[in-house]
Amino acid sequence: MIKLENIVKNFGDIHVLKNVNLNINEGEKLVVIGPSGSGKSTLIRCMNYLEEPTSGKVVIDEYDLSLKKDLAKVRQSTAMVFQQFNLYPHMTVLENLTLAPIKLQKVSKKEAEESGLKYLEKVGLKEKADAYPNQLSGGQQQRVAIARALNMHPKIMLFDEPTSALDPEMIQEVLDVLIGLSKENITMVVVTHEMGFAKQVADRIIFMDGGQIIEEAHPEEFFSNPKNDRAKAFLNKIIR
Ligand SMILES: Nc1ncnc2c1ncn2[C@@H]1O[C@H](COP(=O)(O)OP(=O)(O)OP(=O)(O)O)[C@@H](O)[C@H]1O
Ligand SMILES: [Mg+2]
Repeated sequence: MIKLENIVKNFGDIHVLKNVNLNINEGEKLVVIGPSGSGKSTLIRCMNYLEEPTSGKVVIDEYDLSLKKDLAKVRQSTAMVFQQFNLYPHMTVLENLTLAPIKLQKVSKKEAEESGLKYLEKVGLKEKADAYPNQLSGGQQQRVAIARALNMHPKIMLFDEPTSALDPEMIQEVLDVLIGLSKENITMVVVTHEMGFAKQVADRIIFMDGGQIIEEAHPEEFFSNPKNDRAKAFLNKIIR
């Protein structure tokens, strides 16, 4: 579903990604971990060309993104959820969910609202359809952002530290939504420091350091017996 071939990304003299190769299968749940600055965000931003790689090839669902011609189509089926929820503050929750389907996917308002309400229900927020983002807690806003992404009916969902900006008591409610999603056939790539979650949902963990994937393994294997010393040190630091 996602194929990265020899991806290099430089920002001026900074070499952020150094020849990354990665294949992600349809329906796979991949968790990306690694220290700050290791290139995790850059890597997933390259997957939908929010960052254009300096060199290398990204193929999503058979589309070669470097050709640019299918970029709009691929972006519609590749939803991204960020640390900051980026909801439109002047729109209601339901309007946030229906904007892109109506404008970009030419879905009728009625249909977009019906499916929007269905996804709001799924994230436990149907009763907030007419609220504005600033009337919601951080955890609720992030769940709305996930419902908004789902209302595009994506094949791929990319999450960049979706719980890092949340107060501790709100983290689990968002993780629970992700755990629910992980049971569906959506291809998910999640950058996270939530190791319990990673253990529970990941089909595969990749560990990045210095712009490279230096270990990839099944979670059971990775958490019980990381092979790489840097991965070991990282785990010792974050799992208390
Ligand atoms: N637009 C940019 N211009 C210049 N340097 C950048 C840019 N984006 C990222 N970098 C640099 O690339 C490196 C990797 O950044 P990236 O955000 O991918 O790391 P990360 O693993 O996501 O880190 P974190 O865990 O802190 O989010 C860092 O050294 C960062 O400073
Ligand atoms: Mg990051």
